[in-house]
Amino acid sequence: MTYFKLPALPFDPSQVSSWLSAETLSFHHGRHHAAYIEKLNALLVGNDLANRSLEQILQHAHGPLFDCAAQSWNHTFYWRGIGLSDGPAQKDPLKGFPNLQRKINESFGTLESFKWVFATTASELFGSGWLWLVENVRTGKLELLSTKNAGEPHPLNQSLKPLLTCDVWEHAYYIDYRNSRTKYVDGFLRSIKWDFVDQNLSNYGTPDMTSLMRPQVIREERRQIVIPRIQPSQNSILDAIKSTFELPLPNAFRK
Ligand SMILES: [Fe+2]
Repeated sequence: MTYFKLPALPFDPSQVSSWLSAETLSFHHGRHHAAYIEKLNALLVGNDLANRSLEQILQHAHGPLFDCAAQSWNHTFYWRGIGLSDGPAQKDPLKGFPNLQRKINESFGTLESFKWVFATTASELFGSGWLWLVENVRTGKLELLSTKNAGEPHPLNQSLKPLLTCDVWEHAYYIDYRNSRTKYVDGFLRSIKWDFVDQNLSNYGTPDMTSLMRPQVIREERRQIVIPRIQPSQNSILDAIKSTFELPLPNAFRK
């Protein structure tokens, strides 16, 4: 069953060729990212979470299901944050994003100091993981967050809104840079799509990766089940919900 599909890369590989090779993209996207989604689909068969959004699944799942859901979500999000072909030539990449620029300055001082802290934090992350730029929804400040493996603890489970992420698993850079994570992160910082970061900051709520990964047929099924089907013979909303979701009514509601 295909609950989720692998989205195509959202950029032309030539846009990042000075940083990531076609071979890296082929393995990272076509093998690693694809494999996580394939395992996720297999684990969802017969699981109560199967028709939930990917964001909901990774907030409720544990163990291998969490790992595969998070890795599927993280990679889809990662690809969307990179691919700026003229990144190295841009003198002022935050020009045109005044709110984001203000937040970066408030939280990190300057864009250059943000990049320095980002690179340093990435180099200090031991083992495999992800480095996130997030908005703390409680304080309104931007923060950097390091997470281990698939994302533990994941920003979506901590009231943190992801704005950007960098994959620092070795499979993201080993073909091109061998063990030099520093060179890979330097390229990442020059390839950031700041319009994507600004869009995530401006949008209300969690970035939606589900709509990019659900086959159309599944999305239609989801749309059907969220609207209770009220029949003339049903005299209460509880009856309608019961028949729609095929759930037994709690004892308190039984006549
Ligand atoms: Fe990866």
